[in-house]
Amino acid sequence: MRKIIIAIDGPAGSGKTTSAKLLAEKLNYIYIDTGAMYRAVTFAWIESKLEMSDEVLQNIINNSKIELKPSPQGQITLLNGVDVSKEIRSDIVNRTVSPISANEFVRRHLVELQRILGQGKCCVMDGRDIGTTVFPDAELKIYLTASIGARAKRRLIEYQEKGISNLSFNEIADQIIGRDRYDSNRTISPLRKAADAVEIDTSDMTLVQQVDTIYQLAIKAINE
Ligand code: CDP
Repeated sequence: MRKIIIAIDGPAGSGKTTSAKLLAEKLNYIYIDTGAMYRAVTFAWIESKLEMSDEVLQNIINNSKIELKPSPQGQITLLNGVDVSKEIRSDIVNRTVSPISANEFVRRHLVELQRILGQGKCCVMDGRDIGTTVFPDAELKIYLTASIGARAKRRLIEYQEKGISNLSFNEIADQIIGRDRYDSNRTISPLRKAADAVEIDTSDMTLVQQVDTIYQLAIKAINE
């Protein structure tokens, strides 16, 4: 059995994070949520109350220690030792994460960190550019998609369950469309499917079906 890197990319709400987490558990692989890292930098910038500029973001990057740690409740995100797992899912972070993620310094630093965390490990990593930029040689690449309606509905349920925000279905759909547009059109590492990625449309799939489909592909790749 070989150790492999499984890259899962896709737009907001396509089911990457939940699938990646469950898949990693099933395979006993480590899970790295790269979106949480971009969200943590965004939260640090919001807390700084400074204008968005290269200089400010570079400073924030140089002074922020971002860690992803397993916990009984799932993975937690620490920013300079403080648990910010809940704060990074807030509305304000959702609204500002895309421009911050498009910044060159932020990307260079986080991509380097992601490579260090995943290199040589049995690892499931999810994000926007894992199969194209972070690990272009990943042994298995998955590109998850789903209709806007399905994605907005999932987010609405997640927000209601976790008490994150009171946004309506339409507001969430608009936010998702806006973030997808930004992520897909940025200059550095835009969201796109790697040529060798397996595309899975999860619109009509249950979470169990989704995880199982990727699990079967992973087992095949591990045993190749
Ligand atoms: O969970 P959701 O799909 O809503 O988002 P996420 O995976 O937590 O990522 C949040 C944001 O971080 C995305 O909208 C991207 O702007 C950015 N991101 C990125 O640029 N590159 C990655 N590898 C992961 C996230």
